[in-house]
Amino acid sequence: MSVELAVIGGTGVYALGELADVEAQQPVTKYGAPSGPIRVGTYAGSRVAFLARHGEGHSIPPHKINYRANLAALQAIGATRVLALNTVGGITEGFGPRVLACPDQLIDYTWGRISTLSEEPGSEVLHVDFGDPYTPSLRKAVIDAAARAGVALVETGCYGATQGPRLETKAEIARMRRDGCDLVGMTGMPEAGLARELGLDYACLGIVANWAAGAGPDVDEVITLQDVLDNVAAAMDGVPRLLRALLDA
Ligand code: HPA
Repeated sequence: MSVELAVIGGTGVYALGELADVEAQQPVTKYGAPSGPIRVGTYAGSRVAFLARHGEGHSIPPHKINYRANLAALQAIGATRVLALNTVGGITEGFGPRVLACPDQLIDYTWGRISTLSEEPGSEVLHVDFGDPYTPSLRKAVIDAAARAGVALVETGCYGATQGPRLETKAEIARMRRDGCDLVGMTGMPEAGLARELGLDYACLGIVANWAAGAGPDVDEVITLQDVLDNVAAAMDGVPRLLRALLDA
C-alpha cells in the first residue's frame, strides 16, 4: 500500500503525535537496517510514515546514521515523498530560534560519510542533477500548506551541513555566513543527495533551535541541549497544522 508522505524526525522529534492506527515496519535494505522502526499509520486521513533519524531514544549521532538504509527503507514501504525535519542553528537575520524554514539550497561540509548509492564496486555510477537539492514541487506544496494553515514559515534559505557531533566554532559559523549559509545542521547531507539518487521527492523543514555559535545578539551565548529541546518543542507547535494542510492538498 502506498504511503502519502514519509516524515523523518530529527533531534527533539521522536514521534508524530497525531499518527493513529500505527503499525511498525523495519525493512532491512541492501544497505542495512534503518535507524529504528518506521511507524506507519493514518494522519489526517492519509497514510503517513514516520522515522526517527537518530533512533527513537536518540542513540545514533549524525555521522553514524545509516542514511542510505533510512531512505531505502522508506522507499521499500511505498513512500515517494519525504519531508525531512531537521533541527538546526540559525546563522543570518530572520533565522532565529523557533523559526520554521524551508531551505532551497545547501552546502555540504560533511566528510567521511557514505554519500552515494554508487559506493560499492560494480554499482552504477550516478551523476544526478543536484542544482536544486530539494524537490521544487514538494517545497512549493510545503510553502502553500503553511500559508493555508497560517503557520509562519521562512520560504527560502541555504542549509549548511556540518560533520558534528560537536557544535561549530564562531570562526566556522562566520565562514559559513560568508559562504551564504542561513542555517546549520548535521544531518541534511548526505540525506538530500541520496534521496535524489533514489528518485524520491525530498524537502527539508528546518526547525531553528538556537543561534549558531557567535551568530546571535549575545555572541558569547553558550548553546545548551535544554535550550535546543525547548525551542524545538515551541517551534513544532505549528507543524501538525502544516502537515494536515499538506496532506489535505
Ligand atoms: N549547529 C549544528 N547543528 C545544530 C545546531 C547548531 O548550532 N543546532 C541544532 N543543530
